[in-house]
Amino acid sequence: MIVTVQQHILQQQDELFPTARGSFSSLLSGMTLATKMIQAKIRRAGLVDIIGSAGDINVQGETQQKLDVYANQALLHCLGTRESVAMLVSEENAQPVTIDRSETGKYVVVFDPLDGSSNIDVNVSVGTIFSILRRPDGVHGEAAVMQPGWKQVAAGYVVYGSSSIFVYTAGHGVFGFTLDPDIGAFVLSYPNLRMPDRGTYYSVNEANADSFPVHYREYLGGLRAKGYSSRYIGSLVADFHRTLLKGGVFLYPPTEKNPKGKLRLLYEANPLAFLAEQAGGLAIDGSQRILDIQPEGIHQRTALVMGSRAEVEEFEKKT
Ligand code: AHG
Ligand code: MN
Ligand code: MN
Repeated sequence: MIVTVQQHILQQQDELFPTARGSFSSLLSGMTLATKMIQAKIRRAGLVDIIGSAGDINVQGETQQKLDVYANQALLHCLGTRESVAMLVSEENAQPVTIDRSETGKYVVVFDPLDGSSNIDVNVSVGTIFSILRRPDGVHGEAAVMQPGWKQVAAGYVVYGSSSIFVYTAGHGVFGFTLDPDIGAFVLSYPNLRMPDRGTYYSVNEANADSFPVHYREYLGGLRAKGYSSRYIGSLVADFHRTLLKGGVFLYPPTEKNPKGKLRLLYEANPLAFLAEQAGGLAIDGSQRILDIQPEGIHQRTALVMGSRAEVEEFEKKT
């Protein structure tokens, strides 16, 4: 018999969040609804006017794609109507979006509505990444988001590829669900995702190699000498999903253009680091554990070395 993500979350909730009284599962059903809406638009890109730039520049200084805007609006709408949500933080919004439920809202949801925007128009996999934090009692506004990643209640992503797969953890394992278009539900397809202890791929944008710190270059040369192959899609979610299933290592090192790394801590590195560790892998910023970093800003960037235990531990020996 099939198990949908809703059923799975209810099972998890009964075991993990007995006091959640449905608020946790209601929040995640808002997430699955929004990602189904986003998937429906992506699937019709080219048939409907969803390709190309929306013409605005976001807080990141990047040109917003139409699908970035649509995805963001879908998530703000579907999550903003859930009683348990106190605040939303999005890559596309300079400030947190506070829902005036300062007493009832238990959770803060942080998300990258559309990851891999540069790949939308060329039909390459893109994704949505999310992270769920509990709002500390009596804490409101940005302060409620400034929590290290180890405090996440849940995290996950949807990778919109040849199939759309919803992957999440609530701190007790990693589970994957494939969208069955015939019934419009995410159905359990990976009941216990584990990252291989070692892989054969490394994943990095080699165009920036000349500006990587030297120990990154030495490390990558060592992997090449061992016969590793290179895979780089340019959508973090897709590069992570491959690393989760096949093992290996993903890196976004400090570069001249992004001396602190390009990826955002709160809605890219933290949720994927939580998933990586739950699946038996590791995630560091080049020296410290990603999940231990105390955030100072909602759009703060970080370097990232993430993947199988063997490859990340080998990197740590270089530092
Ligand atoms: P986003 O589309 O949400 O801005 O994220 C893009 C990120 C990430 O998906 C990917 O790993 C990285 O940018 C690629 O950066 P480069 O093109 O500099 O390699
Ligand atoms: Mn992104
Ligand atoms: Mn994005």
